[in-house]
Amino acid sequence: MIEFENVSKFFQGKAAVRDLSLNIKEGQFTVLIGTSGSGKSTTLKMINRLVEHDTGRIRFAGEEIRNFDVKTLRRRMGYAIQSIGLFPHWNVAQNIATVPQLLKWPQARVNARIDELLDLLGLEAAQFRDRYPHQLSGGQQQRVGVARALAADPEVLLMDEPFGALDPVTRGALQQEIIRIHQLLGRTIVLVTHDIDEALTLADRIVLMDNGQVIQQGTPLALLTHPATDFVRDFFGRSEWGLRLLSLRHVAERVRTHERLDGEPINETVTLREALSLFVHRQCQRLPVVNQHGEPCGVLHFSDLVQGEKLWGEDASAS
Ligand SMILES: Nc1ncnc2c1ncn2[C@@H]1O[C@H](COP(=O)(O)OP(=O)(O)OP(=O)(O)O)[C@@H](O)[C@H]1O
Ligand SMILES: [Mg+2]
Repeated sequence: MIEFENVSKFFQGKAAVRDLSLNIKEGQFTVLIGTSGSGKSTTLKMINRLVEHDTGRIRFAGEEIRNFDVKTLRRRMGYAIQSIGLFPHWNVAQNIATVPQLLKWPQARVNARIDELLDLLGLEAAQFRDRYPHQLSGGQQQRVGVARALAADPEVLLMDEPFGALDPVTRGALQQEIIRIHQLLGRTIVLVTHDIDEALTLADRIVLMDNGQVIQQGTPLALLTHPATDFVRDFFGRSEWGLRLLSLRHVAERVRTHERLDGEPINETVTLREALSLFVHRQCQRLPVVNQHGEPCGVLHFSDLVQGEKLWGEDASAS
């Protein structure tokens, strides 16, 4: 869907992005993560030509992006960022309608779309439609920003730290919403963050950048279990590593299906990280497990949490 081939971008002779190659597949949720100044925002902006690349090729749907009319390209790509928010003198409905208006949708369709998006993002239309940005909380503004990016049902959604500076609860709720939107609409999403846990939660594919280059790309599990360099290891936090790995696995993967146990059950869809918390909280060794329909489906043993994980520490000592 979006391909970078040996792309570089220089500002005042200094490379912000160097020889970058990426292949973002249709329907994939890609998260760009890395140190500050590593070139994440520049990479994102090159996709919709807010920044023009200097060398290499960028293709969208098989065609070089330089061959697109810029306006056409941008209308096919929703763009949401943390800081440059909404148009302050436009109400919520007008903000969301920006691109549909440009595309000259009939007013009835625009109105229906506004209500649909507000509903999708958990904002009650009757209450929020006519409010101005200053009458919204930060989290509500960010939701409207995401709604605006989604408005014309773009093929690609580009998001630069869209949930930055939010409290963990609101942030978690918005992450769940974007996962839901991704699953529901199957859109190609490229999101920049420097929150590692956010990256692990959201990504199909993580691209880890440093100093204008890609250090490693792959699934969250691949980066955690097969870090290419010490930088990758350090980035994912040696002390947090185990917990982060548990957050990628689910109870269903470790449940002993032939056993049964009485007591308050845990759902097989929750992460092993949550299960660990529950073990600690209840000070127990075993938990009864139920499936999505609430039917008993086995038992989770504390000792099985760490079963079968190949630790990078072992890799290192073996080599
Ligand atoms: N318009 C610009 N003019 C000059 N230098 C720029 C410009 N935009 C970015 N840079 C430089 O390019 C490099 C990469 O910047 P970029 O914004 O892509 O980093 P980032 O990974 O998004 O960082 P952060 O996590 O802090 O947002 C930085 O060194 C930055 O100073
Ligand atoms: Mg940035």
